[in-house]
Amino acid sequence: MSLQNCILLALAGVHTAHALNIPKKFKADLYNIGTQEHLFPYLGGAGPYFSYPENYGIPIDTPSGCEISQIQLLARHGERYPSLSKGKKLLKTWNTLQNFPDEFNGSLSFINDDYEFFIQDMDNLEMETTTENSVNAINPYTGEMNAKKHAQEFLAQYADFLEDNREFAVFAAGSQRVHDTAQYFIESLGDKFNISLQVVSEEASSGANTLSPGYSCPGWDPEDNEDIISKYSTSYLKDIAQRLNGENPGLNLTKTDASNLFTWCAFELNARGYSEICNVFTPEELIRYSYYNDLTAYYEDGPGYPMIQAVGALYLNASIKLLEQSEELDQRVWLSFTHDTDILNYLTTLGLFDDGKKLDPTYTPFRDHVFHKSWFIPQGARVYTQKFSCSNDSYVRYVVNDAVIPLENCSDGPGFSCEAKKFYKYAKERTANQDFFQACNVSSVSNTTELTFFWDWNTTHYNATLLRQ
Ligand SMILES: *[C@@H]1O[C@H](CO)[C@@H](O)[C@H](O)[C@H]1NC(C)=O
Ligand SMILES: *[C@@H]1O[C@H](CO)[C@@H](O)[C@H](O)[C@H]1NC(C)=O
Ligand SMILES: *[C@@H]1O[C@H](CO)[C@@H](O)[C@H](O)[C@H]1NC(C)=O
Ligand SMILES: *[C@@H]1O[C@H](CO)[C@@H](O)[C@H](O)[C@H]1NC(C)=O
Ligand SMILES: *[C@@H]1O[C@H](CO)[C@@H](O)[C@H](O)[C@H]1NC(C)=O
Ligand SMILES: *[C@@H]1O[C@H](CO)[C@@H](O)[C@H](O)[C@H]1NC(C)=O
Ligand SMILES: *[C@@H]1O[C@H](CO)[C@@H](O)[C@H](O)[C@H]1NC(C)=O
Ligand SMILES: *[C@@H]1O[C@H](CO)[C@@H](O)[C@H](O)[C@H]1NC(C)=O
Ligand SMILES: *[C@@H]1O[C@H](CO)[C@@H](O)[C@H](O)[C@H]1NC(C)=O
Ligand SMILES: *[C@@H]1O[C@H](CO)[C@@H](O)[C@H](O)[C@H]1NC(C)=O
Repeated sequence: MSLQNCILLALAGVHTAHALNIPKKFKADLYNIGTQEHLFPYLGGAGPYFSYPENYGIPIDTPSGCEISQIQLLARHGERYPSLSKGKKLLKTWNTLQNFPDEFNGSLSFINDDYEFFIQDMDNLEMETTTENSVNAINPYTGEMNAKKHAQEFLAQYADFLEDNREFAVFAAGSQRVHDTAQYFIESLGDKFNISLQVVSEEASSGANTLSPGYSCPGWDPEDNEDIISKYSTSYLKDIAQRLNGENPGLNLTKTDASNLFTWCAFELNARGYSEICNVFTPEELIRYSYYNDLTAYYEDGPGYPMIQAVGALYLNASIKLLEQSEELDQRVWLSFTHDTDILNYLTTLGLFDDGKKLDPTYTPFRDHVFHKSWFIPQGARVYTQKFSCSNDSYVRYVVNDAVIPLENCSDGPGFSCEAKKFYKYAKERTANQDFFQACNVSSVSNTTELTFFWDWNTTHYNATLLRQ
């Protein structure tokens, strides 16, 4: 769907919902929306969805002569408001600006013109953005619309396969926004499908039977690699604060405030469609901020933190088991929705982007830099596993955010896929002895040692209470 169509769709909603309520001051957004999409890759995955930028040109379609036998999806919830903790930090910076007694000068002068901060209701924190709760109803980057559009793309892509597979369970982690994303997706698929939404608990007590293993992992300490991450220079934050303070004598923004401006930019895009604060940064500052996010993801949630291999093995083992059982299972479409870190953990164990080189905190690398957090897990991220058979053989392949990403060591099948037996061998080497329960010290919070919901949902019926996290 083009951006124009998105806007029209959003406006169609406006006519019925709150026809005369469009604040005039956001009229300029109509012309400005769409002009900031080049910034999305620099926002650490907090901003709106975008397709994987380094598409190798491999068609997503099933290679000719092949037939799909199973589709799996692990997707992130869509565009959202900030978390409670980020929201509070942003409001602190916003307060500092509001208390500035003079007119703003320079790049902050947009605040003088009737600007209203994009967090207008604390109840929206943690929540998916929708047409209804958007700051400007013409916002084309809502999580709601992204999920509905994704479902339509899924339908179009796999139409023939879905024709014979219209009854299946969809799985969502028990977070409100994750659930909502799955619900919008299901709604958009329409009533030709009979879908049972299973909501899997995010409570630590669910142990290994979870889509969000981070919450069941008391052994995981994000501070463990702080010494490495702290080597990264934050001079770009000081530059931003100094520049803005220089333009506005008496304004005392700190490095922390400068850092908050990036999250403001990302989440205002999700909630409004356009953000003046994004225009404060130089391209160089955006690049430095983006690499900072790569570093933190790498050392807290990714390959730089050895425990993650075991955390990601939980879903990867289940995924392998589903692939191996594709002939026996009636269900052939396995769609799951969760959080960004859980997807990153899984990609880490899978090794799809693992070139074996550690990210260097002492400078900003360019050549050979494959670990781009925002490219993997923007809002609405989607990782598909395709299994297809051609002649007598089966093959497995990954599609990350609309791009086929071949396994570097196994891509000689049709469409750069990996022959299934070779794939199982590869995947089992990566997961061998990666024991989530033990590595995470799960026993201190739960006795549930196995992920079973894919196999017992029909009798257990997962309907966890939704959490605001
Ligand atoms: C829909 O699927 C459920 C199983 O999840 C089944 O019990 C029910 O009969 C199905 N309904 C229709 C209309 O096919
Ligand atoms: C595991 O949990 C137990 C009980 O809470 C605690 O005593 C122990 O220190 C933990 N071990 C690790 C490695 O976190
Ligand atoms: C306004 O900011 C500009 C830089 O954008 C600066 O040159 C100028 O001195 C500032 N004016 C005041 C009154 O501070
Ligand atoms: C900024 O800091 C200066 C020097 O400490 C102080 O005089 C001024 O009041 C502060 N400005 C604001 C808006 O707090
Ligand atoms: C498929 O397997 C059958 C039985 O093993 C064999 O006869 C046939 O030649 C195979 N076809 C291809 C295209 O490899
Ligand atoms: C790919 O193969 C090379 C050489 O055998 C090996 O060093 C590397 O670890 C492999 N990479 C992955 C992701 O398995
Ligand atoms: C994944 O499976 C391997 C065996 O293939 C096992 O060694 C490992 O402990 C399993 N990990 C999890 C988290 O299930
Ligand atoms: C696990 O089971 C043991 C033995 O039944 C029990 O004592 C312990 O409290 C349980 N732990 C948790 C976290 O539920
Ligand atoms: C779920 O169980 C019901 C009742 O046993 C059965 O009719 C239905 O086919 C099952 N659905 C799936 C997808 O296994
Ligand atoms: C889930 O379903 C069970 C059985 O129908 C019910 O007892 C329980 O209250 C439900 N839980 C929630 C959170 O809705």
